[in-house]
Amino acid sequence: MTHPCRPVTCSATVLANTPLAERTWKVDIDAPELALRTRPGQFIMVRLPGQTDPLLGRPFALCDTLPGGRGISFVHLVVGKATGMLARLRPGDPLEAWGPLGQRFPEPADGARRVALVAGGIGQTPFLAHTRELLGTMGFAGDRARRRVDAVDLVYGARTASLHAGVDAFREAGATVHLATDDGSAGTRGRVTDVLAALPRPDHVFGCGPEPMLKALARQCATLGLPCHLSLETPMACGLGICYSCVVKVRDPGSPAGWDYRRVCVDGPTFAAGDLVDFG
Ligand SMILES: Cc1cc2nc3c(=O)[nH]c(=O)nc-3n(C[C@H](O)[C@H](O)[C@H](O)COP(=O)(O)OP(=O)(O)OC[C@H]3O[C@@H](n4cnc5c(N)ncnc54)[C@H](O)[C@@H]3O)c2cc1C
Ligand code: FES
Repeated sequence: MTHPCRPVTCSATVLANTPLAERTWKVDIDAPELALRTRPGQFIMVRLPGQTDPLLGRPFALCDTLPGGRGISFVHLVVGKATGMLARLRPGDPLEAWGPLGQRFPEPADGARRVALVAGGIGQTPFLAHTRELLGTMGFAGDRARRRVDAVDLVYGARTASLHAGVDAFREAGATVHLATDDGSAGTRGRVTDVLAALPRPDHVFGCGPEPMLKALARQCATLGLPCHLSLETPMACGLGICYSCVVKVRDPGSPAGWDYRRVCVDGPTFAAGDLVDFG
């Protein structure tokens, strides 16, 4: 048997392709090998077989594992060619998928009882599996489910209400959901950082979303002295650490400049906010 941490390539079949929100789809794939191996925070690469345009796979976060370990789900926002084609998939269609890639989310800080997951735009996708793991409602990749914290607050911002995707699934998983929109059409009108500031103080913050939002979150957590990890969605080509197209500057006291490049696909996608040079 392949080592459980090694990426595997699967010829998967689409089980369902469900619209969740405006331009946002949840794709369930029959891929038991990925379900067995992939942990919250990791991602998979997906490619449409037989296509030369786009030729390369596209990265998507593990969103959930299907009942009985039959496969996994990923959720995507249509932004371009590949995601446009994925939106047209039907049950029974083939899909190439490989993973798990990258590192899982780190454990919350020692003694943490309350965790805030802060998402912007499509950045909520890795947090459903993370909620289930933190609250112990599901184990992943053979790990026994165990409750790690008492409470999970999901702070989820989007431009407008029609882009909020899969909110009920977070509530069912046990998270307390706090919505924000730029136009005030759902939840608080304004930024996720304002919503976070009004919540009971979390012991650890995880963020995923557009870079300006992540930078604002990193600054807020630094000011408040909160441990913070950010999951990056840097565009990628290989996903395997070969092409260096995904690098980010990370503090490294051992290097002459005090920082060095790290590959988001193998060293990330999640980094401690304080280690990211351009996010301070
Ligand atoms: C580790 C990781 C996990 C990800 N998880 C998810 C997920 O769960 N759901 C999801 O919807 N997306 C996710 N993404 C982003 C997703 O991979 C891209 O949206 C996708 O590759 C776009 O492919 P496309 O062919 O449709 O767009 P393209 O035709 O390649 O590009 C269309 C437009 O989108 C821009 N774009 C492409 N990729 C990115 C990106 N990564 N960040 C910002 N702009 C981009 C391009 O510059 C271009 O303007 C993730 C990315 C990474 C690195
Ligand atoms: S995507 Fe190729 S090294 Fe990261």
